[in-house]
Amino acid sequence: MTPLHQVIINKDTKIKPIWIMRQAGRYLPEFREIRKLNPNFINLCLNEDLSSEITLQPLKRFDLDAAIIFSDILILPYGLNQKVEFKKNFGPILGQININEMSQIKEVNFVEKIFPVYKAIEKVSNNRIISNKNTIGFVGAPWTLLVYMINQQSPKKNLKKDFFNDKDLIKKILLILEKFLMIHIKNQIKNGANVIQIFDSWAGLLEEKELSDYIYSPTLNLVNYVKSLNVPVICFPREIKNYKKFCEIVKPDAISIDYNIDPKTALNDINIPIQGGLDPKVLLTDKETLKKETIKYLDIFKDHPYIFNLGHGVLPETNPEMVQYLVKMVKDY
Ligand code: CP3
Repeated sequence: MTPLHQVIINKDTKIKPIWIMRQAGRYLPEFREIRKLNPNFINLCLNEDLSSEITLQPLKRFDLDAAIIFSDILILPYGLNQKVEFKKNFGPILGQININEMSQIKEVNFVEKIFPVYKAIEKVSNNRIISNKNTIGFVGAPWTLLVYMINQQSPKKNLKKDFFNDKDLIKKILLILEKFLMIHIKNQIKNGANVIQIFDSWAGLLEEKELSDYIYSPTLNLVNYVKSLNVPVICFPREIKNYKKFCEIVKPDAISIDYNIDPKTALNDINIPIQGGLDPKVLLTDKETLKKETIKYLDIFKDHPYIFNLGHGVLPETNPEMVQYLVKMVKDY
């Protein structure tokens, strides 16, 4: 059994596997080199040779326990024919939704449009480097995708005032998302993904009373679907106010925590395997600080099933040498 499965399925506390959110990306010079020659980010995700190579880049450098496929959560709206672009120093920009057209999209056309993602997963999972490691497939949670699809860009701190105005539109989009997220997950698994992570990056924007409709209920449906395919599912409801309640209602196989939650509170509140937590900004400091903070997490979760990771994605300005140091420290613990 792979180290990640050992922790998630067998609740092993003796090993502390590690992978890093956004491990394939801009902090690596070998990624930047490929990126420079490929100005269109979506096209890069849809180039199975390059995206599988980028996926494996961090594993060639560091002793990580999993590869996460080089793609993006916004490949899903792209597959649904919403325009998706990435503007330098700004982030994603999405086109307007035509809900009638979107409601007509057929599974075969969606799968065909993003097929190279599945090919890349197949290539990665068949690579020798992956033996006894996991290939992590992922999706955005329905709520976070809804945010991008309606807001048409990152919401930064707040949603537009009129975000919830068109309840009928929201309902329709959520139904479409539920269907195609399941299709996307199914195809990732069919091609070799053996862990699924659900990223809910904007969970923290909602008030308690809104969580049931937009987070608990749609995420629970997805989690149950992944479980029915016999693959473990990790949820990352970033900055959600109540992780404990989320775990009790949604019951993922493991929970990824952000860096705003006190790890000791997490340990006391949560009784499923935990992942992550370390503030990615710590990687921008010095080795001594990094060591202190890393050991803090490892000590706190010593007797709990725990996968080492950050509390959000690794920052582009991170020195790869610090990542090397971090991985080695976790392995030597
Ligand atoms: O983790 C990995 O290494 C796998 C690949 C991956 C990417 N995006 C590649 C990427 C994953 C898992 C994601 C998830 C993702 N994408 C999330 C959820 C996690 C999170 O960070 O909150 C979100 C919200 C997105 C949407 C997105 N994609 C944004 C807001 C941006 C621009 C700003 C940013 O953070 O980079 C992207 C672009 C993107 N996705 C890049 C990469 C490597 C940078 C592209 C570039 O400019 O080179």
